[in-house]
Amino acid sequence: MTNSLVISKKVKSFNKIIKVSGDKSISIRWVLFASLAQGVSRAKNLLISEDVLTAIKAINKLGIKTKINRNFCVIFGKGINGYNYKKNLIINAKNSGTLGRLILGFLINTTNKIKLIGDKSLSKRDFKRVSDPLSKFGAKFKLKNNKHLPLTIFGSKNLKPIKYLEKRGSAQCKSSVIFAGMRTNGETTIKAKKSRNHTELFCKHLNLPITVKKRKKYDEIKVNKVQKIKPINYNIPSDISSSAFFIVLTALAKNSILLIKDVNINSSRVGIITILKKMGVKINYENKRISKGEKIADIKIKSSNSLKPIKCPPELNSGAIDEFLVIFLVAAKAKGISYFKDLAELNQKESPRLRWGEKILNQMGIKTITTKNSIKIYGNPNLIINKKIIIKNYLKDHRVFMTSVIAALSFGGKWKIYDKDSIKTSFPNFLKIVNKIIK
Ligand code: S3P
Repeated sequence: MTNSLVISKKVKSFNKIIKVSGDKSISIRWVLFASLAQGVSRAKNLLISEDVLTAIKAINKLGIKTKINRNFCVIFGKGINGYNYKKNLIINAKNSGTLGRLILGFLINTTNKIKLIGDKSLSKRDFKRVSDPLSKFGAKFKLKNNKHLPLTIFGSKNLKPIKYLEKRGSAQCKSSVIFAGMRTNGETTIKAKKSRNHTELFCKHLNLPITVKKRKKYDEIKVNKVQKIKPINYNIPSDISSSAFFIVLTALAKNSILLIKDVNINSSRVGIITILKKMGVKINYENKRISKGEKIADIKIKSSNSLKPIKCPPELNSGAIDEFLVIFLVAAKAKGISYFKDLAELNQKESPRLRWGEKILNQMGIKTITTKNSIKIYGNPNLIINKKIIIKNYLKDHRVFMTSVIAALSFGGKWKIYDKDSIKTSFPNFLKIVNKIIK
């Protein structure tokens, strides 16, 4: 069976209603919190993708039983000290940075050493950013080249709380330290640059001993030792990062309207909405509500005839960090030059995404000027592609694949996009929804 996709037709105008799969960040966090809960937790609309199944497998290896039936999942937690596993355990986080980094916080007090491995892409990513703060609690780490997987964690029963400054705007680093703080006597203090706050909202909902003071650019978080986590039943909202592909498809189409149901619109995640509105895309929230501290709404998008370039304020970066590849496609069609800066973190993702953004745009015939942390995009509202474009060897980064599909459907040309399987990590039914829209 071929693992590439050929697209040679632009999308026609559409008016559709869709629902995308459950949020990946919330799904993985639910699995991890439920694994330490005292009793049975249930989730509906859990994202059933490789990253989440990998998280479930990881807690299974730690002695926690689970049951999955379609997108309904049950986790039989055995309490805060309920992990039970054999010596020389190996956990494979496969492609998931979120799982690999977050779980280390929970393993900070392991009595036996545990080895963490990952796939080719994850093995190129920086794990020193979590092993450094976690070492300060008293755990010990061995990493390949001092920075990469495979990594071995030697936990400690004699943990000390730390003071931690998180400067990157990384929710994975912040969450990993929160989890370690939850297992440590005394008060851990974190000053964290703004980033997605699902972990904090889980803690608040579960009444765990954590406080968050919101400052303008940073949050001040204080965490104390957790004695007990109650089970958590969760109806998981849909993922804005998965919705992003269809938001952009609609923004770039002619005379089209799309309604995406039940999407998580947590203010630390909606950078793409703010950015696209500034660029002239018509987006509205309908049916707004709150569940478990998370804001949810249906998102309505209308296509736009005139897109404006943007000088993107860097304070929006962290709230749109997974969406920049598709945002760049909107900049490609805007009338004028767009500029995105302070984006070095983009090259730390599943693939070096700033470089992949540039490669895709250049193949489309769009001029760019890129540095290691910024990109200038020379938009062309009249862009029509007539040539052949091949996208391959991108470390199977799911978001490179999905962005290329949206580019092909929006700008035309004959595209051959390799590694279709990459979508399994975050959004296995992406192509099904594409087909529903283009039919
Ligand atoms: C995530 C945080 C972000 C994001 C990733 C999911 C999370 O990573 O890119 O897809 O669930 O905490 P960083 O923490 O590296 O910015």
